[in-house]
Amino acid sequence: MCGIVGYIGNKEAYPMLINGLKRLEYRGYDSAGIALIDGTPKSYKKKGKVSDLENFVKGKDVSGTIGIAHTRWATHGEPNDINAHPHTSMKGKFIIIHNGIIENYSKLKDKLEARGYVFKTETDTEVLVNLIEYIYLKARESGRELSAADSVMLALHKVIGTYGILVLSVDEPDKLIAARNGSPLVIGVGKNEYFFASDATPIVEHTKSVIYMNDGDFAVVTKDNFNLKTISNDPVEPEIKKLDIDIASIEKGGYDHFMLKEIFEQPQSIKDTFRGRVSLDLDNIVLGGLHTVMDKLVDAQRIIIVGCGTSWHAGLVGEYLIEEYARIPVEVEYGSEFRYRNPILYDDDLVIAISQSGETADTLAAIRMAKERNVTVIGICNVVGSSIPRETDAGVYTHAGPEIGVASTKAFTAQVTVLTMLAYLLGHKKGVISKYEFKNLLKELHQIPDKISEVLKSNDYILKVAQKFTESTNFLYLGRGVLFPVALEGALKLKEISYIHAEGYPAAEMKHGPIALIDKNMPVVVIATKDKSYEKIVNNIQEIKARNGIVIAVVTKGDTTIASMADYLIEVPETHDSLAPLLTVVPLQLLAYHIAVLRGCNVDQPRNLAKSVTVE
Ligand code: G6P
Repeated sequence: MCGIVGYIGNKEAYPMLINGLKRLEYRGYDSAGIALIDGTPKSYKKKGKVSDLENFVKGKDVSGTIGIAHTRWATHGEPNDINAHPHTSMKGKFIIIHNGIIENYSKLKDKLEARGYVFKTETDTEVLVNLIEYIYLKARESGRELSAADSVMLALHKVIGTYGILVLSVDEPDKLIAARNGSPLVIGVGKNEYFFASDATPIVEHTKSVIYMNDGDFAVVTKDNFNLKTISNDPVEPEIKKLDIDIASIEKGGYDHFMLKEIFEQPQSIKDTFRGRVSLDLDNIVLGGLHTVMDKLVDAQRIIIVGCGTSWHAGLVGEYLIEEYARIPVEVEYGSEFRYRNPILYDDDLVIAISQSGETADTLAAIRMAKERNVTVIGICNVVGSSIPRETDAGVYTHAGPEIGVASTKAFTAQVTVLTMLAYLLGHKKGVISKYEFKNLLKELHQIPDKISEVLKSNDYILKVAQKFTESTNFLYLGRGVLFPVALEGALKLKEISYIHAEGYPAAEMKHGPIALIDKNMPVVVIATKDKSYEKIVNNIQEIKARNGIVIAVVTKGDTTIASMADYLIEVPETHDSLAPLLTVVPLQLLAYHIAVLRGCNVDQPRNLAKSVTVE
């Protein structure tokens, strides 16, 4: 949430900063701003998209080889020009951009106001930059020379909350100061130049060598000197890692939207998820990242899955599969609930945290709490090097590649693929599934990418279906068993990007409430593949039709029974029941996408949402 970019080196900073903001716009797009320092500082900020900022600075002085830039997702203060970052301190000595939340900002603000500080904005960030300046000037008044970096450090010691910050000092204009606590920062290392960003996407086109800052890290950088330490002034040996993403993976590649590109990438991204993990002769699964905890997993008395949003839905699929195949009880928790409700945890419990970004604040806090109680925590994450994989005891990367569309698609199917592999593997190890069955399941899993390619061929038909529902105000999504979480996910996709109200329900629960909503205007998406509850869901469809509801059914190819009842029929190839979520979610993603585009919504940047929510 919120994007940070910074540059220090010999080149003009502006092009890197503005392009970097465009790469990061998926993290927030309420307003954007930029500050450059070249002798004199200059700062420009604008409500709206990065393109609005770009238009605003046209013809203005954007020279300078040191700069910082920010794209915002508002937490404190409405999105407008004034509240946009960067923020400059009252006497103009420091300029800051900040991700995160300063929780004690109100107390600090009162103190600063009592000392004569006047605030222009409603943000917590302005409090921080004024605090830094106050400390810096106060030292001078009392005859002490305090460096810009030391002033930032002292200020951070007074702050409660989370931050990823970049700071410029007007008196020391050759420096860029960076600090991290709970809000990610990556530093790209070039030749006499450094790139800073809240994730690696703005950096990858400049260098593949990066340093992921840890919580408590503090960096003071000039174009030819890099000094990394902790906020308590202890030296830190920087660990340079190689980025494994390429530029093509963060560009639209001819698609109108990232979301559509990512939906269409799923045959490949799922292959990437199981590549090297499912053996070529299809008789073994190796999840290398779980090696150290595998015995614990096999013996676990209970697994608790935590996640938020789409990742929580993937967790629900995991619950059905792990319970079915490994016979281990599973609970699925929202990170935000789990962390605050004092849950009962036992030593032989195991927590699995699922997160695309690896940065979601509530999920992160949930795993910290579990770790404090000595419970082993496993991560299933997409972004390599993000906070969750670094804080968990073991984990599996989903390898879906960068996901830029705010509505998660390929990350979901990759998470489900990992959970499916885990369920099969545990089931096999525990002797719940025979060697023969295990091999058959892997054979089926192996065919999923091709079957998704088959589903994607329905795109034109799904567009036609979507055209009928652009004026709808409500949608209901129904599924049973492991397809119930898919119904939730289908409804979430529609809500997120088209702003149509949608609810997902277990099909049988329809009778206990949602059935009251059904009339001739109510579209109901029913996921009704040929599995063990097929007959039951056919009955549910009849109940909808008896009330004149409109049925859009996702069915197994060749289904004639539902074909005679449904208004619209979307076919998916036959597969094993446990793999049906991977196929059936795809048409729901496409349906939501087309409805949103036809309604004129910005699907890659839906209103009020952000790709990764790094605040509670
Ligand atoms: C935000 C995103 C969702 C995502 C959720 C959890 O709400 O808009 O798409 O599912 O966060 O994110 P995570 O990165 O933890 O999977």
